[in-house]
Amino acid sequence: MIVKPLTPGFGAEVSGIDLCVPLSADQITRLIKVIDDFAVVVFPDQPLTDDQHVAFAESLGPLENEAAVVSVEKQRLAHSRMIDISNLDVDGSILAADDRRRMFNLGNLLWHSDSSFKSTPALYSMLHGRVIPPDGGDTQFADMRGAWDQLSDDLKLQLEPYVCDHSLIYSRALLGFDAFTEKEMQAFAPQPQKLVRRHPGSKRKCLFLSSHIGVVHGLPRPEGMVLIRELIEHATQKEFIYSHKWKVNDLVLWDNRCTMHRARPFNDKKYQRDMRRMTLQDSASTLDQP
Ligand code: OGA
Ligand code: MN
Repeated sequence: MIVKPLTPGFGAEVSGIDLCVPLSADQITRLIKVIDDFAVVVFPDQPLTDDQHVAFAESLGPLENEAAVVSVEKQRLAHSRMIDISNLDVDGSILAADDRRRMFNLGNLLWHSDSSFKSTPALYSMLHGRVIPPDGGDTQFADMRGAWDQLSDDLKLQLEPYVCDHSLIYSRALLGFDAFTEKEMQAFAPQPQKLVRRHPGSKRKCLFLSSHIGVVHGLPRPEGMVLIRELIEHATQKEFIYSHKWKVNDLVLWDNRCTMHRARPFNDKKYQRDMRRMTLQDSASTLDQP
C-alpha cells in the first residue's frame, strides 16, 4: 500500500491495493489509520463492479440502512443501499430539467456532511466514478479539523456546547426546493447533533458543519444561522480544501465525522455523470458520543 499525501495532512492517494478483492485484516487496519490521518482517501484505477463496491464497504463496517433521498418509483441501481449520485434516469437517459430527483440532487452542490440529518449520521462515504463529464463536476472536500484548529480560543469556548438541528428540509430550502411529500416531511424531521466533536481515531476536535443545519439550540434562529454561515465560510477557505478532479474508476472515500464536501457544477443537461455511493453508519448520534 503506497500512501501519497495530496495536501499537507489532508487527503491522500492510496495505490498498490486492489479493492476488487477482499482485503486482509491487516490491510483494513492500515487503511483505517490512513483515513484517521488524512480524512479523504483517493484510490485511482479501481474498476469495481457494484457487488465489489458493496463488498468493500461492508468490509469496513456496518452500512447505513436506508438511503435518504426523495422517493422514486424505480431505482436505476440494483442494490438498495447504493446511492445513485448521477443525473440519469432508470433507462440511462439524462434527467429532464424539471425532474424532482435532479432538483433534489442539486443540493449536493452545497457544503455538507452525509446524513448529518439522521440521528446516527454517516461514518465513511465511498463514491465510485463510472462516467465523468468532460468538464466540471469535481468534488471538493474541506478539513473540519484544520478549520477547528484555526479558530480563536474565545470562539472555541463559545462553540463547544452548541447543538444544532439538521434536516434535508433545511438544506433544500436554501435552494428553494420544498417539493416534499407528507411522508418525506416526517422522515426528514430535524435531528440534533453537536457542533463540535472529537474524532475518536485522530483524537482531533472538529467542527461538525453541514448545510443541513437550520437551527442552533439556544440562539434566536437568525443569530444561529449567521453563525453557521460564518463558520462554513471560515471552514471552506482554500487552505482547508482538497479538490478532486475525477477519472473513471476512481474510488474516493471520506470520513464524514471530520470533513464536509460538495459537488461542483457541470453541464448536466448535456453530459452524463454516473457516480455510485456506498455509506457506512457511525456508531451513535453525536449527542451520545464522547
Ligand atoms: C455524495 C456527494 C458530490 C459529488 O456523493 O454524497 O455529495 O460530487 N457527492 O457528486
Ligand atoms: Mn454528499
